[in-house]
Amino acid sequence: MDIAPTLKEKFLDLYAVNESNHYFSPGRINLIGEHTDYNGGHVFPASITYGTYGLAAPRKDKTVSVYSNNFEELGVIRFEIDQLTYDKKDNWANYVKGMILKVQQAGYSIDHGFDLLIEGNIPNGAGLSSSASLELLVGVVLEDLFDLTIDRLTLVQLGQKVENEFIGVNSGIMDQFAVGFGEQDHAILLDTNTLDYEMVPVELNDYAIVIMNTNKRRELSDSKYNERRSQCEEALERLQQTLAIPSLGALDTETFEKNCYLIGDETLIRRARHAVTENQRTLLAKTELVQGNLSTFGKLLNASHHSLRFDYEVTGIELDTLVETAQKQPNVLGARMTGAGFGGCAIALVNEEAIPAFKKNVHDIYTQAIGYAPAFYVAHIGPGTTKIN
Ligand code: GLA
Repeated sequence: MDIAPTLKEKFLDLYAVNESNHYFSPGRINLIGEHTDYNGGHVFPASITYGTYGLAAPRKDKTVSVYSNNFEELGVIRFEIDQLTYDKKDNWANYVKGMILKVQQAGYSIDHGFDLLIEGNIPNGAGLSSSASLELLVGVVLEDLFDLTIDRLTLVQLGQKVENEFIGVNSGIMDQFAVGFGEQDHAILLDTNTLDYEMVPVELNDYAIVIMNTNKRRELSDSKYNERRSQCEEALERLQQTLAIPSLGALDTETFEKNCYLIGDETLIRRARHAVTENQRTLLAKTELVQGNLSTFGKLLNASHHSLRFDYEVTGIELDTLVETAQKQPNVLGARMTGAGFGGCAIALVNEEAIPAFKKNVHDIYTQAIGYAPAFYVAHIGPGTTKIN
């Protein structure tokens, strides 16, 4: 993992500064456990080798200057460290502002500015957590430039606060956790109720995880995301009038089925059913993966997608076409959407030798049905956010 020489040149070009520190922050896939992280359930994500590279150097004044090679048209965006308010026109730089503000509010002193250049190779808006990647990147930049010692969980939680309080998406903790705690060749089984977690080796033998991008932007996804979250909260409240449970994640499937009538609304029942069954599937999937039962693991991926499609309704024609087509290919053990849904990416467990044929078939069928092409990337599980020496 190295910083490209062109990035160093760009930094010099932009800021007339020779020396900079270098950082990398990954994106993530979620193997299974979708829309469970704000329901007190389990998630099973992994950090990937696609991510965000950053170069930074301190300044003597109070200005923060940021530039992204992915948003060249926005040029250098500048703001002061004592004026950290959300401004729509600052686009991606709002995540930088938000993170500085949250770190300050947590009691750490950020008393001068810095220059930052970033470049990401995570497809943007594809549901692979480009925003959590950036939040944690900025967190580690701040730790490094300002000599702060912030434990990783705190940094992860500050990243989530940026989403919740600064950007306005009521997301759970999965993305920041996956990005901040990721380890090469491991997935993270995280209990979002207790924040206990286990690093689980991912051994896929002859198989690989192929990321499939619908190339549909996740438009409107934030408001629909927030709506799903409040529907689950409403279902939980109705159950709690009779059952003493802290979250939907505390229910097993049988107890849920016996009591779901208490919710009294068909849509809310389906939303809650997804949260409960997905949590159970996640625990099962982890066991099957550890035991090397890849084909059962794959079936659980399929079942997860089915539940997200029919009970949770966060898929849509693009994701469903992609996933269904993938599931039908030979040498595929399973496929499902990953991330928030409503567009973005899906993953498939594909025999390595069959990947070229797989890509071609899925590409052709999807393009024919949807009118534009999908994109494919093979996922490698790499480290969490880190300074590069
Ligand atoms: C988004 C959110 C996460 C999680 C997923 C769905 O990625 O940021 O917190 O809720 O959607 O599993």
